[in-house]
Amino acid sequence: MVKKALAYSRFINQISKERQPSLIREMTKILASAPPEMIPLSGGLPNPKLFPFKDLTVQVTDGKPISLTGKDMEQALQYLPTGGLPALVKQLKALQMSMHSPSTDIWPDTEVLVTAGSQDGLCKCLEVLLDQGSTVLMEEFVYSGTLSIINPYKPQYKVVKSDSEGIIPEDLEKVLSNWEPGSEDPSAPKFLYINPTGANPTGTVLPECRRHKIYQLCSKYNLLILEDDPYYFLQFQEASKRPPSFFSMDTEGRVIRFDSFSKILSSGIRLGFVTGPKPIVDRVMLHMQVSVLHASSLSQVLVSNLLEQWGEEGFKNHITKVENFYMERRDELIKAADKHLKGVCEYSVPLGGMFLWIKVPAIKSTWDMIMERGLAKNIMLMPGKAFQADPDKPSQYLRAAFSVAPVKDFEPAMERLAELIKTEMELQ
Ligand SMILES: Cc1ncc(COP(=O)(O)O)c(C=O)c1O
Repeated sequence: MVKKALAYSRFINQISKERQPSLIREMTKILASAPPEMIPLSGGLPNPKLFPFKDLTVQVTDGKPISLTGKDMEQALQYLPTGGLPALVKQLKALQMSMHSPSTDIWPDTEVLVTAGSQDGLCKCLEVLLDQGSTVLMEEFVYSGTLSIINPYKPQYKVVKSDSEGIIPEDLEKVLSNWEPGSEDPSAPKFLYINPTGANPTGTVLPECRRHKIYQLCSKYNLLILEDDPYYFLQFQEASKRPPSFFSMDTEGRVIRFDSFSKILSSGIRLGFVTGPKPIVDRVMLHMQVSVLHASSLSQVLVSNLLEQWGEEGFKNHITKVENFYMERRDELIKAADKHLKGVCEYSVPLGGMFLWIKVPAIKSTWDMIMERGLAKNIMLMPGKAFQADPDKPSQYLRAAFSVAPVKDFEPAMERLAELIKTEMELQ
């Protein structure tokens, strides 16, 4: 039982409240666990015997090939219950248990839902919570994919300051002090969106003490926490320094966590999962029931097979390999930046994720420098403006990804950037 049961109704908007379960999808769920004697005349399942794909073998880098034939292949090509492949959901619950040791106060009322990438879960969850003109709390620099979901709601953004460690709890407290704790005022925010680990675009990993303070504030002001954490498995600090997730410190059922397989298994496989209080996750599921119906069956079957054969140890070994790979790239980019940008730019060494966040104090806006002169010089970076709530505010920042460009190109890239900045300073 949740210790202090939250009244989730306050968080859920009218459209979401109106959603009713889709009978066809509910029947699919019943069929998935029905006994073999069941004669299924209910659903509109296509007959898999006519699917032109016969069998599939996928070679695995650190493991045995995954072969799908006969009934397994049919299942991988067939509709699934919206919640996800039951075997995968079970594995994901075990993974969350192992990674986050959730409190027994919340775990019995926690649901795990497989989504088409974490973006799908995040988008639908925001669509459960937001109304036109809602107040939205977020930190200064935010993943542009989240802004693109929220912007059409014409929200009242309340931007919380951040520094090289991430969002600043004291500033969050200052922003929240505009409302009474637990206020039912419709202008009061209902949630805090946060990307706490290896943040996109800043690369910060929010320290544990800040996380505790932020959780306490969200509890005081009765806010949900949307923990968007696709870089959780992409951290560079030694294990003992890694902060616990918000989900792991939740005792009140106020954290909704978004995980992703994109950064560690494949981004094209489109798999993520939402973990959080059942009343909210169920609303996301109802939306999936009428949109994508469920995340790709083939992807879910493949990932479930992979997790099965790897076991927890194999999974952790893979994560270590991925982290080491990106950490080496981060170090190479920092080396190149130190050589060419020292004294001109400010940046912190990212503690996770795939990005270096660079400030160019001498120039007012990086937009034209990147979008016009940068492209002409064959260098692409993301201008900082893409990551802020106010699109009209000039930004002195840039985001450089160290994930895919050849390492040998890091140095020429930073050299070109230094030249661009020099030219830009002359133009100002
Ligand atoms: C912070 C953040 N959230 C969500 C996503 C979406 O990831 P997915 O591929 O799991 O949908 C991304 C992708 O870059 C991201 O950086």
